[in-house]
Amino acid sequence: MSRNMKKMEQKQIQELIEKAIGMMDYSYVPYSHFHVGAALLAKNGKVYGGCNIENAGYTPSNCAERTAFFKAVSEGVMEFDAICVVGGMNKIMKEYAAPCGVCRQVMMEFCNPEEFQIILATSKDQYEIFTLKELLPLGFGPDNLNK
Ligand code: THU
Repeated sequence: MSRNMKKMEQKQIQELIEKAIGMMDYSYVPYSHFHVGAALLAKNGKVYGGCNIENAGYTPSNCAERTAFFKAVSEGVMEFDAICVVGGMNKIMKEYAAPCGVCRQVMMEFCNPEEFQIILATSKDQYEIFTLKELLPLGFGPDNLNK
């Protein structure tokens, strides 16, 4: 853990897990039936929920994580501490639903990879926390264009 990384409180982790689980109810998944819910914690304390939204054209589908990020960014909020992601076929959370590569790249745009926490859960008390850097090593981000 890096020196300035905030250790998340158990209560906050559980709140994010609960919010992410609840977001699966809004998933629009007539094609995959794979529900994904996300809860994105901004540095200002606000939590943005996201769900996956599929499309008959398939490629316009949006992941839960990006839904949450784009909701926040579209309201001018661009600093984040953590995201919780849950998912499963017909909402049955059998294993961790890890963010896809595109979502990891979107996180890279707005988050410090050494500090941003990604909470993967299958229930309120079964979870693991990763940094973005762990899930996206050697990521390419805005800093690479500022040198
Ligand atoms: N999905 C997400 O919402 N997040 C991810 O990171 C992985 C995949 C969604 C996309 C699609 O609606 C469904 O899960 C099956 O791929």
